[in-house]
Amino acid sequence: MAKDHLRAWDCDYERRGRLWGGAGDLPELPQDSRILELGCGDGKTLGLAADRGLPVIGLDISKQALALARGAAPAAPLILADARALPFRDGCIDYILAYHVFGHLLEGERRAAAREAARVLRPGGRLFFRDFGRGDMRYGRGEEVEQGTFRRGAGTITHYFSPEEAAALFCWMRVAHVEAVRWTMRIRGSEVVREGVWGELAKSE
Ligand SMILES: C[S@@+](CC[C@H](N)C(=O)[O-])C[C@H]1O[C@@H](n2cnc3c(N)ncnc32)[C@H](O)[C@@H]1O
Repeated sequence: MAKDHLRAWDCDYERRGRLWGGAGDLPELPQDSRILELGCGDGKTLGLAADRGLPVIGLDISKQALALARGAAPAAPLILADARALPFRDGCIDYILAYHVFGHLLEGERRAAAREAARVLRPGGRLFFRDFGRGDMRYGRGEEVEQGTFRRGAGTITHYFSPEEAAALFCWMRVAHVEAVRWTMRIRGSEVVREGVWGELAKSE
């Protein structure tokens, strides 16, 4: 049975519909590879992948998210599952996209999901990681449920990473690179700073 902060996703999508705007982006990946997106949400990245002819499998813990993702990428295989217990054989995935999913888990859950990602990747396979960093304007908002992890209105949680912490999370893989990335955006007329931690991890050959 999923915990409250995981179940909260279903309610949020049911109440608000599509949640993730913006253009999205993808690394350059070969078309004949097996690509898995963990926490695909409402299909922003899946839709982009479908436009490029990339066969990405979408996986999410929320049924409502997958119903929305179906609209964005009608032909993509979609799997209702938990990133902490992936329904794949060892070493059968070439690339994993993990955009803003690890940051919505508690510490022990992040470790379990990172271990699973390393298990299903083939030797030499890569994981692309994106989450928010500690310099982000939202850091500190909401109830702190673990160090650097905050619960906000909908009941979902967000953890804010340092680059070192993100690298350490994937201790079963080699760090190709991890960096903090900053950008600004306007929210209700004010300029605010966003910070992400972006990384690429490789499973040893
Ligand atoms: C912020 S959204 C990211 C959506 C998408 N990756 C994007 O960047 O547009 C986080 C998604 O992770 C999913 N999620 C949270 N915990 C999960 C878990 N344990 N296993 C699989 N998906 C999970 C949520 O349901 C939600 O759709």
